[in-house]
Amino acid sequence: MKIGTPKEIFEGEARVAMTPDSALQLQKLGHECLIESGAGAAAGFSNADYKAAGVEVVKTAAALWKASEIVAKVRPPEGTEIKRLREGQTLISFFNPGGNEDQMALAAEKGATVVAMEMVPRISRAQKMDALSSMANIAGYRAVIEAGNNFGRFFTGQVTAAGKVPPAKVLIVGAGVAGLAAIGTSTSLGAITYAFDVRPEVAEQIESMGAEFVFLEFEESAQDGAATGGYAAPSSPEFREAQLAKFREMAPDIDIVITTALIPNRPAPVLWTEDMVGLMKPGSVIIDLAAERGGNCELTVADEKIVSKNGVTIVGYTDFPSRMATQSSTLYATNIRHMMTDLTPEKDGKVVHDMEDDVIRGATVAHAGEVTFPPPPPKIQAIAAQPAKEAPKELTVEEKKAQEVEAFKAQTRSQITLLAVGGALTLGVGLVAPASFMQHFIVFVLAVFVGFQVIWNVSHSLHTPLMAVTNAISSIIILGALMQIGSGSYLVILLAALSVFMAGINIFGGFLVTRRMLAMFQKS
Ligand code: NAI
Repeated sequence: MKIGTPKEIFEGEARVAMTPDSALQLQKLGHECLIESGAGAAAGFSNADYKAAGVEVVKTAAALWKASEIVAKVRPPEGTEIKRLREGQTLISFFNPGGNEDQMALAAEKGATVVAMEMVPRISRAQKMDALSSMANIAGYRAVIEAGNNFGRFFTGQVTAAGKVPPAKVLIVGAGVAGLAAIGTSTSLGAITYAFDVRPEVAEQIESMGAEFVFLEFEESAQDGAATGGYAAPSSPEFREAQLAKFREMAPDIDIVITTALIPNRPAPVLWTEDMVGLMKPGSVIIDLAAERGGNCELTVADEKIVSKNGVTIVGYTDFPSRMATQSSTLYATNIRHMMTDLTPEKDGKVVHDMEDDVIRGATVAHAGEVTFPPPPPKIQAIAAQPAKEAPKELTVEEKKAQEVEAFKAQTRSQITLLAVGGALTLGVGLVAPASFMQHFIVFVLAVFVGFQVIWNVSHSLHTPLMAVTNAISSIIILGALMQIGSGSYLVILLAALSVFMAGINIFGGFLVTRRMLAMFQKS
């Protein structure tokens, strides 16, 4: 089929939905590729690059829409674009279906198919088509770079001949895709990074990326955000109050705030209020990624950079991915290419629009003359929507006692069995072995038993369990050697000295190795 990409007509949009690389891959699926002349220029791809990749360059948008059976673009249709859509044609782009009912109805009426890229469900199989995530990843990265550009100091702390520079303190609110990308960028630039999210399950991810999770002393049963298709659920007013109090406490100390908090299809929650901006130091920066939905900061103005009365810069740009057009076009075009791979199962250039497929069904908002939005919930659970583990049942005092008695009885039974088997074996050996051997043998068996008990019951309060056990064994060896060292025989003295030496190496060497290993995980 013929897949065409027009030039974006939204003012300032620099991205393009097809790159020379993605076109090569699309051709491998059996499709022909077309591009409007100059469509990739703002993203760094020239007509010549496309031609070299076997793409036909079409002069005008009208000609491109006419010639293409599938149109792939970035932004929702603008102006005349929706009128150009015709029966049997497929449009793949961001579409904002929730707020674009008229265009959706028009597309359905015309008998066209619309695949809305923001509707790709967040299930593992669809990750490669998840354009929202790939764009949010770029936005998170760019937000930190933008903050650095507006911040008058280093991110990392430095001790220079000219004086000491403290590290910047960055707070990231919302640890979704954009937030995690921002955390990664901020920590790698050396800033002290804090992050907060209403979903407590992201604490581990935040900490594994070198940031500190801001804990709230708050119990809320509704914090099972994972149950809403991989997104957060709205928090209660009490939780929000606790959250705001925590932010207010942190505000004077934080240099850069990056907010990314959002619950889909809702206005962005206001989390950084005017008084918090007032508490920040002059020169601080706020980057509000949620600006498009009203902003997480009370003072944000969408698409603008403003400076508050007390000298705090607040950036509300809504086009961060477009500001890194080469990167974002490459990722977006790859997302589209993967969508096309799913739509072309036989790789023969024939599109099969399988409405039974979770991903295709989820993303399709108009098909076969009908509006197909909203889609039914996917059959597979969202990535984050793992069922909560069942909490252990609270036991009553009687139940606990009964459990303890049962455990004690079981332990006694196994000990008696062990004793009986041991006794029978000793008797067996006694029947055949000489008396002098038996004396030594019994001492040996008892020594093994006592030694085992001593070693196994050492508690490893300082080091690893393995080290605790090997140190206990080494200590017993040293004790035995010391008892023998006074004997008259030179051979015994030599052997005893050797064992003290070797056990000593084991103990002290173990401590040294552990120290070195711990040092690897400590920040200098
Ligand atoms: P996401 O849904 O993956 O992450 C949002 C996170 O915010 C979730 O982890 C959620 O738990 C958290 N959250 C929700 N309510 C919260 C609250 N009250 N307090 C703290 N955390 C809360 O979304 P994603 O993809 O990371 O996008 C983040 C934001 O960035 C969105 O607003 C999105 O529209 C925006 N965005 C902006 C761009 C720009 O150019 N300005 C470009 C791409 C995305």
